[in-house]
Amino acid sequence: MAAETGQGFDPRYLAAKKGIDDRARNHHVWETLRQALLAAAADGPLHILEIGAGLGTMLQRLVQHGLLQGPVTYVATDSDPGQLRAARPYLSHWAAKEGHALSWSGPHRGLLSTQKAEISLVLGPVRAEELADQATMPGPFQLLIAHAVLDLLDFPLWLPPLLGRLTAHGLAYLTCNFDGKTLWLPACEGDKEIGRIYHASMEARLRGASHTGRRLLAFLQRPGLELLAAGSSDWLIHPRKGSYCRDEAFFLHAILATVEGQLSSAKRPPACLAPWVASRRRQLEAGQLSFLASHLDFLVRRSPLP
Ligand SMILES: C[S@@+](CC[C@H](N)C(=O)[O-])C[C@H]1O[C@@H](n2cnc3c(N)ncnc32)[C@H](O)[C@@H]1O
Repeated sequence: MAAETGQGFDPRYLAAKKGIDDRARNHHVWETLRQALLAAAADGPLHILEIGAGLGTMLQRLVQHGLLQGPVTYVATDSDPGQLRAARPYLSHWAAKEGHALSWSGPHRGLLSTQKAEISLVLGPVRAEELADQATMPGPFQLLIAHAVLDLLDFPLWLPPLLGRLTAHGLAYLTCNFDGKTLWLPACEGDKEIGRIYHASMEARLRGASHTGRRLLAFLQRPGLELLAAGSSDWLIHPRKGSYCRDEAFFLHAILATVEGQLSSAKRPPACLAPWVASRRRQLEAGQLSFLASHLDFLVRRSPLP
């Protein structure tokens, strides 16, 4: 199972990624968001737009940590309708387990009631580029969320109109932005070549994608925006007493399968690919493999020019 197939991201991979992202999330950026949302909630209902929402794990995270209070509208969008179809049972199962009430009034509308918040949930199967373009789109929003998706978009082109959907001092929480480094340990023959070609395959898909994090760091300091907080949110997975939890093992298998899939379809697949993957799988099965991927998180506020 690869994280991403030709058909899109595997929802089981996104579910496994949730716990890894929870651990990786930058606490300074998160805490700045928490404070800002508390202040914003005092001014009335919160309207939130998420792009590339997948299964809705960010909504889940915001609820779990009490960041949503009072009346909230949460528009979770994704270009892949399959993700949003999978989001319904995923969120329903989670809500029932946590004792929240979640009811659906149609294929795309739900109401999630927690002790602290009443959340009108809208699932929108739509590409972020279309949202940026659509004059009919609802809004304005106090918060835009993009988690693990900006490396799939030509963000210099599409982020400005998306940020334009925010209220005058609206926030954007832009997180898990890949920043150019993957590391597998223990070191093994072929690491350099595999890493180079893997990052090149990201670049072939979208120029600059392999350095989305640092490009955003520069981009978000432009006039009209205030960068409130920034920090790293690296994925770091290592065995404990020679094993991994179930999600970590599944996640590592998925990342290895993705690297294998990407490189085997390269113009000239490296000769070291098959032995490298076989050796990494053996290390994974033996509970000896560690993995790091660098990411950056940001919280930015619109500050309209005078
Ligand atoms: C790596 S997944 C992250 C999903 C979710 N944010 C999470 O972290 O679990 C990227 C998501 O972005 C979606 N996506 C890809 N390109 C997109 C686009 N142009 N507009 C909106 N969503 C997109 C994919 O379908 C996928 O669900």
